[in-house]
Amino acid sequence: MKFAILTGIVAGPLVVLAQLNALAKDAGLLYFGTAVSPSDSSDSAYYKYENDVKNFGQYTPDNAQKWDATEPSKGRFSYGQADSIVSRALSNKMLMRCHTLVWYSQLPSWVSSGSWTKDSMTSVMESHISNVMGHFKGKCYAWDVVNEALEDNGSYRQNPFLKALGDSYFAVAFKFAAAADPAAKLYYNDYNLEYFPVKADGAVRIVKLVQAAGVPIHGVGLQAHMTVGRTPSRENLTWTLNKYTALGLDVAYTELDIRIKPLPSNASSIEAQAKEYVAMVGSCLDVPRCVGITVWGFSDAHSWIPQTFSGAGDSCLFDKSTKPKPAFSSVSSLLASASGKRPPWNTASPPTGAPVPTTMITATTSAAVTSTAAATSTVAATSAAATKSTA
Ligand code: G3I
Repeated sequence: MKFAILTGIVAGPLVVLAQLNALAKDAGLLYFGTAVSPSDSSDSAYYKYENDVKNFGQYTPDNAQKWDATEPSKGRFSYGQADSIVSRALSNKMLMRCHTLVWYSQLPSWVSSGSWTKDSMTSVMESHISNVMGHFKGKCYAWDVVNEALEDNGSYRQNPFLKALGDSYFAVAFKFAAAADPAAKLYYNDYNLEYFPVKADGAVRIVKLVQAAGVPIHGVGLQAHMTVGRTPSRENLTWTLNKYTALGLDVAYTELDIRIKPLPSNASSIEAQAKEYVAMVGSCLDVPRCVGITVWGFSDAHSWIPQTFSGAGDSCLFDKSTKPKPAFSSVSSLLASASGKRPPWNTASPPTGAPVPTTMITATTSAAVTSTAAATSTVAATSAAATKSTA
């Protein structure tokens, strides 16, 4: 049953709505998921919808597994909020994407302000990764082992790990992660890979560094924090995903939202948003090793965007009253039309990789360049805002 009569969450008459995870699995994806926060339970209708495995088959904790939450002081580990999210997911028969271990942001000050040698940083990374992953061992389908290690120009983002270990920290992190939970899929995760080929190639460089060290890495997560009017074409999104599947990896959209700026949104921007959500989901369907899609929250009433990007918002599949938007209907229709077109996802033996991409699809190169150029100002704002928001 892929459609449900949804009451409560939607004002007015009963609405028959698609159920995204059920549709996604029928279309050959492993899951359609959402980020979750402990505060979600304060909105009963939102929380009820979030808890239905036919709507979402996967959770990502938005903050509860980050270093500042799990090891606030050296050697003292704390998992309260993360445990409740993980146990809820498992009782709902959902998968967990666990997030995140090595990241420049939301570090406790004992890490961010410490003076580290190569040996002392290696030891702290091993302790953090082995304790945190060990605590959740067997419960995380995937881990974002390293998050946002690149600047938008493809250079390495400065952080305590790079300062102490240079670019060896990538393989070091993945080595400890593989030892801590050999069954977990280990991902590199970043934003704006969709917009900037130089950044996407930076992620290729990181993957190759880890592979050259003989250390497992299983996937690249593209966060997919997009802006209406600047989302690349479905073909170019597919081209970017295939940069990683060509290396023998899985890919996933891990934090999808498509913000509208300027506000207020209108019929035109809302319709454009629907088309761009279709391009995002469609590009995942186009790539056999694209595992699934996670939205970073599903209602405009509970999105991180407005407090991070002034003048932007309305980014989600549901509006501020948590009523479905055209984007929800368009994504549902796309997934329904893809039913049975890919075999069900087989975690034990994922589909084979894609052909090695040669050049960006010329037919839309100009569009991509335009979108890239146009995105530049967004990205500058993104980086500044992200830095501000995560400072
Ligand atoms: O925990 C403190 C609380 O004690 C304090 O009272 C409160 C008010 O200042 O702040 C709380 O910390 C907030 C934290 O979320 C936990 O709620 C931070 O201010 C706030 O900046 C932080 O925002 C999170 C952001 O990451 C930080 O970079 C967002 O909720 C979270 O959705 C967002 O998620 C990231 C992904 O992890 C990585 N990709 C980008 C994505 C969006 O930035």
